[in-house]
Amino acid sequence: MGWPICGETLAFLKPHKSNSTGSFLQQRCSRYGKVFKSHLFCSPAIVSCDHELNMFILQNEEKYFQVSYPKPMHGILGKLSLLTVSGDLHKKLRNVAVNFIGASKSTPAFLHSFTINLMVKHLLSIEPEEPIAFKILEDFQTFMKGFVSLPVYIPGTHYANAVKARARLSRTVREIVRERQHENMRAGEGDFLDVILKKRSLSEEETVSIVLDIMLGGYETTATLLALIVYFLAHAPAVFQKLKVILEAMRCGNVVKFVHREAIRDVKFKEYLIPSGWKVLPVFTAAHFDLNLHENPSEFNPSRWTDKASVISKRVMPFGGGPRLCPGAELAKVEISFFLHHLVLNYRWKTQADDYPIAYPYVEFRRGLLLEIERTNGFDDH
Ligand code: HEM
Repeated sequence: MGWPICGETLAFLKPHKSNSTGSFLQQRCSRYGKVFKSHLFCSPAIVSCDHELNMFILQNEEKYFQVSYPKPMHGILGKLSLLTVSGDLHKKLRNVAVNFIGASKSTPAFLHSFTINLMVKHLLSIEPEEPIAFKILEDFQTFMKGFVSLPVYIPGTHYANAVKARARLSRTVREIVRERQHENMRAGEGDFLDVILKKRSLSEEETVSIVLDIMLGGYETTATLLALIVYFLAHAPAVFQKLKVILEAMRCGNVVKFVHREAIRDVKFKEYLIPSGWKVLPVFTAAHFDLNLHENPSEFNPSRWTDKASVISKRVMPFGGGPRLCPGAELAKVEISFFLHHLVLNYRWKTQADDYPIAYPYVEFRRGLLLEIERTNGFDDH
């Protein structure tokens, strides 16, 4: 099972094309089947490439399993992040996030710009050209680099820089929260922060944490999916319906490859026995490329969704599932479909021949997705 302590973690995390499951999973699955034992992230672990087991795990959150991100990730996420808390605190904080995200989807302002600028404006009323917006963006990028890097706290490593960037982001948001409290609730502004401050249901620390959660959850994932769509469309004619392109890019691109859980009691599912205390890693990518679930799975083919959308969507889980299902799923689709509409209408583009997406496991492009772009005679002026 690999090296002591880290076990097979390095092999499990070895980069591979993001529209594949990678050699580690391919070899293990052909040798041991879709569910196998390993030693990962300093713990004995069960890796599941079985779609039914994956759904069972997510749907039985807090009954048989619970969220269990590795300790070093807590250092970056903070102890009140939605990804680290469970039970009533998770319910309370999630409720606030779901309300905000649901309300954002329907406002036209939200649809007119993207990713981090959009989040920062909507959450905190900061305009993209303000110096503080640059500061937030910079810290954010440092944070993201370290988020899934090797957790070594030595000055200069991506991980150490990310922990510091997270602390700076917290400070920036905390200062904004305090200013708002001193201003004694400005009348009328009505951004997300005003809404939660008015409710007075969260402590200062919880408020800061939920603002960061929404920024983190919503920025990198959506930006990555946009990049994947641009990539896949460069290799396929853009004649498809937008929603099918988005769904197919999520199946093929795999923004989130797997999530972290832990068994909280002995669990028996089909022929598998999962011992209490073991780490459990449901790998979403595996079901996306399962030959028994999809025809010719490695092909990017949006038309597979025609007539079969409801069947296929049950076999694809890019947003997780159960009580922790991504609250930003619909918002991400709306944002991306708006972007796609303008892109396809106004531009044609090519990627570099040797570029492709890689799962590190977070997705990056081998060549940075440099594009050759050409404006077309579209009719879109804004
Ligand atoms: C392509 C875009 C996105 C993908 C692929 C994605 C994927 C995911 C996945 C797989 C989870 C579940 C994590 C787990 O079970 O451990 C999750 C949770 C979460 N996502 Fe997203 N997400 C996306 C966009 C967004 C957006 C736009 C927002 C916010 C505006 C957001 C906010 C969150 C939050 C707050 C959670 C934690 C939920 C909880 O633990 O209850 N995500 N996301």
